[in-house]
Amino acid sequence: MRIKEHPILELKHGEKVTFTFEGGKLEGYNDEPIAAALVAAGIKVLSYSKKFKRPRGFFCAIGKCSSCLMNVNGIPNVRTCITRLEEGMVVKRQ
Ligand code: FES
Repeated sequence: MRIKEHPILELKHGEKVTFTFEGGKLEGYNDEPIAAALVAAGIKVLSYSKKFKRPRGFFCAIGKCSSCLMNVNGIPNVRTCITRLEEGMVVKRQ
C-alpha cells in the first residue's frame, strides 16, 4: 500500500533507493517521506508510546504530532512523515 496523494504535501517520486530498517534492507523512492516507504513495505508501527508502550503509526502525516518519531541515521526524534527518504538511510524505532 503506497501513499500516492496527500492533502498538504506534494509527494514526489524519485528513483528507487535502498535503506535499512531495524537491520533489514527495504526499498523505497528517493524523496518520498520515510514513513510512506515504511507503510508501503507493510510496516505500520513506527513508534511506541512512552508511558504504556502502545504502538503508534502514521497519524497526522504533516509533522504536528509525535506518532512517527524515529531514529534516522543515529539522530533521535526525527519526524519520519515529513523527512524525505535518501539512499542508505538507517532507520530504527526508538
Ligand atoms: S505522523 Fe504526526 S508528526 Fe508524523
